[in-house]
Amino acid sequence: MLGMVTMNLYLETYGCQMNVSDSQKIETLFGEEGYQLVSDFHQADLIIINTCSVREKPEQKVFSALGRYLPLKRQNSRLVVAVGGCVAQQWGARLQQKCSGLDIVFGTHAIDVLPAMVREVRNTCLPQLDTAFRSAIPSLDIIPRYAAGTLTAFVTIMQGCNNYCSYCIVPYVRGREYSRPSDSIIAEIRQLAKNGIREVILLGQNVNSYGLQTAGELNFPQLLARVNEIHGIERIRFTTSHPKDLSDELIAAFVELDHLCPQFHLPLQSGSDRILERMGRGYSTAEYFDKVERLRQVCPEIAFSSDMIIGFPGESAEDFQKTVDMIRRVRYDTVYSFKYSPRPGTRAVSFPDQVEEAVKKERLRIFQTLQDEITSKNLRKLEGTTQEILVNGPAKRGGDQWVGRTPTNQIVNFSSDENFTGQTMTVRITRALRHSLKGDIVQHG
Ligand code: SAH
Ligand code: SF4
Ligand code: F3S
Repeated sequence: MLGMVTMNLYLETYGCQMNVSDSQKIETLFGEEGYQLVSDFHQADLIIINTCSVREKPEQKVFSALGRYLPLKRQNSRLVVAVGGCVAQQWGARLQQKCSGLDIVFGTHAIDVLPAMVREVRNTCLPQLDTAFRSAIPSLDIIPRYAAGTLTAFVTIMQGCNNYCSYCIVPYVRGREYSRPSDSIIAEIRQLAKNGIREVILLGQNVNSYGLQTAGELNFPQLLARVNEIHGIERIRFTTSHPKDLSDELIAAFVELDHLCPQFHLPLQSGSDRILERMGRGYSTAEYFDKVERLRQVCPEIAFSSDMIIGFPGESAEDFQKTVDMIRRVRYDTVYSFKYSPRPGTRAVSFPDQVEEAVKKERLRIFQTLQDEITSKNLRKLEGTTQEILVNGPAKRGGDQWVGRTPTNQIVNFSSDENFTGQTMTVRITRALRHSLKGDIVQHG
């Protein structure tokens, strides 16, 4: 473009899929401003760090990152450094007080105004801050531009959370639950399908309560039914679901909707009812397991995954044993497990009986060893079966190796002289590896 100088953007992202999706939007916005993405921060005119504060460890990352990037401003006066996402929302102005030279702090509702903030810094050299919560979140309607050949897209359908689980900072940093109008969600997915997207992952902190607070809006199963009708979309996934809001209608959707994948991320958090109560989760393990069973009845191949917190305040050896028993019963494909991390402002920080660090560490080790065994067992069960995989593209190690995913989202590697990217093929699973499968093509198309 005549007169347009290309500038370099270095973008670093921590945290959940919603942050990954937000970063895709940021990249798109700055693409329109004449920025191109670079992988070497030394070349950057603009550095953006999109942060996560769900546990202390990811939160700390931003400070070591700023330790790397802020000194670069001494050699490069054009360099602008911005921090966004959940840590930015949590810390606000205190982040700029603590990290001198930090140009921009933008909160989780301020993505759409970020380009204007950068321009303002370039014009005035003054630091910028925007951590206001909006009642409707404008950035939800930004449609990321995907590279040619991209098959999978995230689509945020709601943001924020009203649940206030006692350990969790998310309601404080993402704000109150807000559902994006279904019309704009459907319009986006239609557009994506036209551009070659075949799989959508609907995102929200609690997708099950989508639309419930907006008069006249579709509920989540109704939204899924609408997405299921969109020509070109072959696979629909969603995350995250709160077990207490998992409705019969949603269970039925797994029978009725042919593009809905048999995969369910259903965070349990603990296998002890006493601990669930203290977490404020609003369900018992019996209620949870009943929902799992009913989903398995209507959809026997369905794969479950979960999040688990190990060493929540008051967790006894017996409570921990109940968590272990529960993963044996549910037989999850994957569990994202972390030690409990006290978060400022949440109720659980002030719970008296905090579990010792060494105990948390040891329980986590035991837990993860067992879950690894369950994961391997589940993978081995697929040996000899045939699976419909959507081919994502060439394997990282190249050669004649390709990668696809099963409907349950397992990775399958296979060899082929032909490029079947974007196609659905039938493969026979020949071998289970630690975290993936190997297969042979049976049929394509
Ligand atoms: N809305 C989702 C979870 C979002 S946060 C849900 O309700 O399931 C993602 C995960 O981070 C949680 O499921 C929880 O397992 C973990 N997490 C949240 N706060 C935590 C804390 N203080 N310590 C350890 N893990 C935590
Ligand atoms: Fe956090 Fe609970 Fe809300 Fe999930 S439902 S985001 S764990 S407060
Ligand atoms: Fe982290 Fe914020 Fe997601 S705290 S897990 S990036 S909602």
